[in-house]
Amino acid sequence: MNKELIKEASGKLLEKNNIVVLTGSGISAESGIPTFRGENGLWLKYSPEKYGTVTGLIGEFLKSPKKVLEFALNLIEVFNNAMPNQGHLSLACLEKDYGKNVTIITQNIDDLHEVGGNSNVVKVHGDLYTLRCTKCNYRKKIDREYLKNYAAKLENAMEGSLLSLIKKGKELLPVCPKCGGIMRPDVVFFGEALPQKELAKTFITIDAADVMIIVGTSGEVYPANTFPYRAKENGALLIEVNPQRTIFSETADYFLEGNAGDILPELIPPIKENISE
Ligand code: APR
Repeated sequence: MNKELIKEASGKLLEKNNIVVLTGSGISAESGIPTFRGENGLWLKYSPEKYGTVTGLIGEFLKSPKKVLEFALNLIEVFNNAMPNQGHLSLACLEKDYGKNVTIITQNIDDLHEVGGNSNVVKVHGDLYTLRCTKCNYRKKIDREYLKNYAAKLENAMEGSLLSLIKKGKELLPVCPKCGGIMRPDVVFFGEALPQKELAKTFITIDAADVMIIVGTSGEVYPANTFPYRAKENGALLIEVNPQRTIFSETADYFLEGNAGDILPELIPPIKENISE
């Protein structure tokens, strides 16, 4: 860890007020949620064509329902058991203790920024804790408790013949309280459009930003991989935090090499509470 470089970047960061943070799966890695690419990446274990698209998932479910149910169960367990790490907590400290105007633009579908304490989180790839009706688009917020109960039902439905598994799997799909349509997780699969409201907010925020901190994203996915360049063109200072160089590292004013959980508490030092005598 290059402490001198981090200190310099920290000084520049803390002079500014409007701060946008672009995060990817790397920030949640230390909370136990796997990244998508790289050594232990999710897409190495599960093909993105089959598990990252709606048609792929339906096809796979009809062929091997048990595998898809296990995938869903595993995903819920990993997300539900994760807690914010020092990286998330430092970003919350930037908002709460330093009083900065912080917007987190995240590609992550987990809830760790919100649980960590940031109040302004824009989820450009959707949210695992929201269901959306496939018929009328009604959105329903759910919580960890809901997913825990859902996982228990999935676990009970795991045994049986191929046909009975398909039947049980279909019966477990959540139903819209407004129109009776089938509800799905409100997450962006490959080939789907990003939510318009979130995208509009992203552009407005980036255009007003003095600084962008990029944490834990490989920059492989469009359009999130254009956001740092837009910020830079608008004169924002770019600080990147990642254990590996990415397509952004050349353009960044500061590339801080290391894990989010180690670098962010140095970049955003905790403000010591005044202990009254
Ligand atoms: N701290 C910071 N960064 C880390 C850490 C860590 N502890 N561990 C890994 N990283 C970095 C990796 O070096 C890599 O650059 O996180 C990045 C993870 O990259 P990806 O796996 O490609 O994840 P992400 O950039 O979030 O993917 C974007 O791809 O499939 C989609 O929709 C999915 O939102 C996702 C999008």
